[in-house]
Amino acid sequence: MNPEAQALYEEMKASLGKLVPDVELYYKSEIAVEINQLKKERNAVILGHNYMEPVLFHSIPDFKGDSLDLSRKAATTDKDVIVFCGVKFMAETAKILNPSKTVLLPAEKAGCSLAESITAEDVRALRRKYPGVPVVTYVNTYADVKAESDICCTSGNAIAVAESLKSDTIIFLPDQYLASNVAKETGKHIIFPSIGGAVPTDTLLDVQMIGWHGKCEVHEKFTVEDIRAVRQQFPEVVVVTHPECSPEVVAESDFSGSTNAMINYVRDSKAPHYLVLTECSMGDNIAAANPEKDLLRLCMVRCPHMNMITMENVRDSLRNNWQVIEVPEEIRVRAFQAVDRMIKIG
Ligand code: 13P
Ligand code: SF4
Repeated sequence: MNPEAQALYEEMKASLGKLVPDVELYYKSEIAVEINQLKKERNAVILGHNYMEPVLFHSIPDFKGDSLDLSRKAATTDKDVIVFCGVKFMAETAKILNPSKTVLLPAEKAGCSLAESITAEDVRALRRKYPGVPVVTYVNTYADVKAESDICCTSGNAIAVAESLKSDTIIFLPDQYLASNVAKETGKHIIFPSIGGAVPTDTLLDVQMIGWHGKCEVHEKFTVEDIRAVRQQFPEVVVVTHPECSPEVVAESDFSGSTNAMINYVRDSKAPHYLVLTECSMGDNIAAANPEKDLLRLCMVRCPHMNMITMENVRDSLRNNWQVIEVPEEIRVRAFQAVDRMIKIG
């Protein structure tokens, strides 16, 4: 093993030794060395979402975090190339914010069920139906949908964004569950209209939020029954959920927040067991950072899109300049307004 790979192996052994067997640590340390070399040659920065598998997460990203954090890093980097270890909407957001950079997404089909749930024409139809009502769009959408929006939000700032708008009513797209959770937190009444049929104008009198029917294919799978079953087995468990879970699941949990907020909550609290209801790899990463804590996770539920990003395809994306994310300038400029407005809110 070359000395650089050996050093990386030893570093990772210290944090991941109880989670990942040596054989995998050795194999991936060698690939990480190749990636670090290519990163230097191409003057690249690697951004890694919290959902990346533990060895990738601990070896190659220059910055790690939730989608809000990584958008900020993408906006301000002075490197020539941004490699996004995440999904397509995240890589597109990086391109929207920093268009002179080459943005690479190392997997062709790393999509997202929320981003697939709505089109730009759907947003235009909602605007026609509810003229003058501002549109908040979750960053888990494609650039053309962001371009039709007034402001974006992430799970980390959804409430702050909703409250920043000086409007009695807002359209909040496309995650039905995130919107319902925000409505509940802020005491607003939400409806989920169908596109097409006539809506009586007085419907809006007692409605402050208009949502959409998108769902995260991962978080929608967690159920109240799952939580109750785990609580029965581990009575003192503390349950932590992402707000893309249903309001019933969030209500049954002890804490709900963005991926960063979940990580910080486990770090800063003290319980005999934690159940982390989100992509399973993040449970591994929390376990590695908190070796004294007992982390339970339901790994029967995985994000197929995030899991497409591997060490091998990160290396190959840098080697072969693949796959380059492009956003047509006319769309990018309009999407930028919505994302930049969000970033300025904090
Ligand atoms: P965060 O913004 O909380 O990192 O979430 C992104 C995501 O896709 C969760 O499924
Ligand atoms: Fe999209 Fe859900 Fe995967 Fe997050 S976990 S990227 S919201 S499909």
